[in-house]
Parts: sequence; C-alpha cells; structure tokens
Amino acid sequence: MSRYFQPHIARMAGYAPGEQPRGGEFIKLNTNENPYPPSPRVIEAIACAAGDRLRLYPDPLGTAFREVAARRHGVDPSMILAGNGSDDLLTIVTRAFVGPGDLVVAPTPSYILYKTLAELQNARIVLVPFEPDWTLKADRFAVKDAKLAFLANPNSPSGTSLRPESVSELAKKLECPLIVDEAYVDFADWDCVGLVRDHPNVIVTRSLSKGSGLAGLRFGYLIAASEIVSGLIKVKDSYNCDSLSLAGAAAALLDVEYAAGVRAKVLKTRARLTDAMRGLGYRVPDSRANFVWCLGGPPAASVYDALKSRGILVRLMRYEGYDDGLRITVGTDQEIDRLLEELDKIIKQFR
Ligand SMILES: Cc1ncc(COP(=O)(O)O)c(C=O)c1O
Repeated sequence: MSRYFQPHIARMAGYAPGEQPRGGEFIKLNTNENPYPPSPRVIEAIACAAGDRLRLYPDPLGTAFREVAARRHGVDPSMILAGNGSDDLLTIVTRAFVGPGDLVVAPTPSYILYKTLAELQNARIVLVPFEPDWTLKADRFAVKDAKLAFLANPNSPSGTSLRPESVSELAKKLECPLIVDEAYVDFADWDCVGLVRDHPNVIVTRSLSKGSGLAGLRFGYLIAASEIVSGLIKVKDSYNCDSLSLAGAAAALLDVEYAAGVRAKVLKTRARLTDAMRGLGYRVPDSRANFVWCLGGPPAASVYDALKSRGILVRLMRYEGYDDGLRITVGTDQEIDRLLEELDKIIKQFR
C-alpha cells in the first residue's frame, strides 16, 4: 500500500461487494437484485429526462423527488434526503455523526458495510449479537457513549425483521441517532417510518435497488427529522443524485400498482424456495426480504463452488459464531427451479 494513506485507511480491508460478472452467463442470485424489470414508467421518465437538459446540473436537493416521497410517507419534504443509493446515505450519516475514536453500534450478523463505514472514520464498532430468536436486547444494544447505531430491518443475511415496537424501544434507550436501514422493506410486512414522528433520533433509509428493480440506477433516500436532514445536506456532495436517477426514482415511487405486482411474485417464490431449502435439510429463518439465508447442509463453500461451476451464483456468507451459510436471492420461478434441481444433485454427492 502506498505510504501516503492515513494509517487507519492503510489498515482497512475495505468492503468487498458481491461478485458482478460482466457476461450474462450466470443465474445471479448473489446480490439481492430484483429478478423483474423496473416499471415501464421509470424507463419513460428517464428517457424523457435524457435530453438537452443534461447540459445542466441537477437540482441539488431533488425537490420534485422529495415532494413525491413526502406525499408517499405523509411527512414534510424537508424530512426527505435523496442519495446515490442508500449506501451513499449511510456514508453521509456516518461522516456527519462519527469521528476518530468514536463508538458505533451494529448487530451481528448483519450488513458488513457498517463496519467499513466506522473504519473509514477511524472509529470503533461494537457488534451486538442477535438473540437466538433474532431479537435484540435494548440494554445490550444501547452501548454507552455510542455516536451512531445501525439496524438493518429486515436484516441481511437473516431476512428477519424487528417490529416497530421493538425498534422504538431501542431508539428510546439509545442516546445517539439510530439508522433503520430499510433496504429490503418492500418485501416485509411492516416498516418504521412512523417512528420518525416521535423519535427524534430515528433515521430511516430506503433503497430503490431491491423492491423497485433499480440497482443499476443507484438511488435511495432517507426520512428523518427536518433538523437532521438540514445538517446532513451540509455533508453530502452538492450533486449526489443525477437528473436521470431523480426522474426515474420519482416515477418508481408513483407506480404503486406495479411495485405491488412485483412484490406478490417475489413473496410467492420466496415461500416456495424456503420450503424447498428446508426440505433439503437447511435451517432457514423466516425471511421478510428478497433472499433466504440457509445454514447447515454440506460444507457451504463446496456447495457455493459447485453451484458456480454450474452457472449459478449465490453468496457465501461467513460470520463469526455462525456456520458458513448460503444467502440466496429470490429469483424468477424458472431460476429457482434450476437452482433447486442443481442443488439436489450436488447434495446427493455429499451423502
Ligand atoms: C442491508 C443493506 N443496506 C443497504 C444496501 C445498499 O443498497 P443500495 O443499493 O441502495 O446502496 C444493501 C445492499 O445490498 C443492503 O444489503
């Protein structure tokens, strides 16, 4: 590593995103993309925005998008902040609240990026294990003097989700902001946006990558108290969202009917995939996201390799204190049929 880097950056491993093979040769079930295309209205809105006006900088705050999102959630537009994917918002919030040596809290096992964001700030992270029933004890989670807490809800890799009452308890116990990362909420049965009203420390982040099928567009937003949003605006890049993504994102939020249709299909396939994986001997927590986490079975790394050699990519997940597991994105019914067919053959080889 070049000697010019700050020591804490030189020390970091950096976040390793899931594999993104360039060709179309894989059935891709490794990074929780939506197997269905975005709403045709999104494509129309982007095509409409892709004209002469691209000469101009985008609206720095994405005013039109903020209004659409505010109406959708029944909040004031000043409570919405748009980002270049929800990862951008997680970064902005961490930069805003966390400095060198500070403490950050997150559950484990969960989204690995939280640790990377803490490391970028030269901060320390405390990882609080989930209870065996996938709840969190507020007393253990509310680490004293923490400057920021993360909660993926639904969580990755488990797919489980805390109820708003439990998240409220965590928020009340914490003396710092709590990010409720709702990247997967479009596949869940409840959400925590309502908590923002009476919990001034709750910041809810949303992604259009999963439910809206727009991982390639890069768009997310957050909902928080106006005074938090106005502080975060100072931290973000001036033009963190481009004109095309702002137009596409607003259209996606407005096409509620299309999103409901996609959700229904994914949930149906998720139920089938969960049953089938359990039938193959895996332990699978009930998922409220668009993936399932499968533990047990033959060595996960070998199954991962065998699937890959047959053209199917899943995500091998390793967490301290847990067996290696496979996180499998809910694909189309045909993709899941192929996966199950190949898995059945692979598992037989281990018997
Ligand atoms: C828990 C969680 N939060 C946030 C993200 C990032 O989503 P985005 O594509 O909006 O940056 C991911 C992506 O996989 C995720 O798993």
